[in-house]
Amino acid sequence: MPFNIVALPGDGIGPEILSGTLELLEQISKKYQFEYQLKSYDFGGAAIDSQGVPLPDDTLEACKNADAILLGAVGGPQWTNPNNRPEQGLLALRKSLGLFANIRPTKVTDGTSHFSPIKEERVKGTDLIIVRELTSGLYFGQPRHLDDLSALDSLTYTKDEIQRIAKVAFELALNRKKKLTSVDKENVLASSKLWRQTIDEVSLEYPEVEVNHLLVDACSMHLITRPTDFDVIVTENLFGDILSDEASTIPGSLGLSPSASFSLEGPRLYEPIHGSAPDIANQNIANPFGMVLSLAMCLRESFNFEDAASELEQLVYQLIKDGKTTPDLNGQYTTSDIFNELKKNYE
Ligand code: NAD
Ligand code: IPM
Ligand code: MN
Repeated sequence: MPFNIVALPGDGIGPEILSGTLELLEQISKKYQFEYQLKSYDFGGAAIDSQGVPLPDDTLEACKNADAILLGAVGGPQWTNPNNRPEQGLLALRKSLGLFANIRPTKVTDGTSHFSPIKEERVKGTDLIIVRELTSGLYFGQPRHLDDLSALDSLTYTKDEIQRIAKVAFELALNRKKKLTSVDKENVLASSKLWRQTIDEVSLEYPEVEVNHLLVDACSMHLITRPTDFDVIVTENLFGDILSDEASTIPGSLGLSPSASFSLEGPRLYEPIHGSAPDIANQNIANPFGMVLSLAMCLRESFNFEDAASELEQLVYQLIKDGKTTPDLNGQYTTSDIFNELKKNYE
């Protein structure tokens, strides 16, 4: 059976970074001899323009029936209606598919530490993964309220939600350096107290894994001063959103970071962690590596093509090492130049 892949280009630089990635996928499928069906669907601001809503029924239905979903990015300054925003489509998609676990790796590969805005000796060897809870917390908590004089967001977590993300993080840590950092704001938030207590309970099932707790403000500092001390970090939805953008700058650019999101069963979604970058859209200068590395995660995790995934990752790391990069990494290459460089390897 051919794999069924859904592509969601979205807005801004989304279509620019996804189209070349899909051309690469075609070449990779020939080399590694697998078949797939691919269809693109309206999503985000593009779907608001074409169908009036950011997550149309046909898009959601296709995603539910897919083996994997590749997403560019959504959002932009032209979609300002607070009740019909592109981002609401992304949150609804994550929720509808139950994608509670979001894996966001950050790596400083050999010979690329000079791209970091942080001193090379501090970042060399960084290899960490943020496990971000993705379907609860402030993003989804009820009640919510907004009027001219007051606003309310609710931060809720249930024990079950914390347990299931904790297990994902512990399993990951078990297969890596057996070191888990749980990040919360336990000195202030009730949800964080339950978070820390639950992490400690789950840790009893993983005696080989060393657990540390860090408060989120201190963690944001340690990420910059000693990034190599981290292996797996587990945290709630909003902290994970913020810390992962911060972590992405350690190797040099937000444009480098991929992600994979999954439920306990069902299709996984792969997307770079950055947004639609309206300030550089349609200029052919967006860094496509975060999207390409997301495809590598897809090849590995959804289709079990470890060799194809690691080959693609090595090609990306080599281009960075050679200084063949877009302007965000001080290079002169356009987005299409980068794709041409990558595609050469499969001709
Ligand atoms: P952003 O991530 O789009 O951009 C932040 C900065 O990083 C910008 O200066 C941008 O040019 C740069 N940047 C981001 N990706 C890049 C890349 N691949 N190559 C080179 N430079 C890159 O964040 P923002 O500007 O705060 O948000 C813009 C829109 O994107 C908003 O509507 C936001 O809600 C949305 N957003 C969407 C997603 C998503 O679809 N998953 C993620 C984050 C933000
Ligand atoms: C991300 C984005 C989204 C988030 C937005 C666009 C809703 O910032 O994927 O990191 O906050 O989860
Ligand atoms: Mn984000």
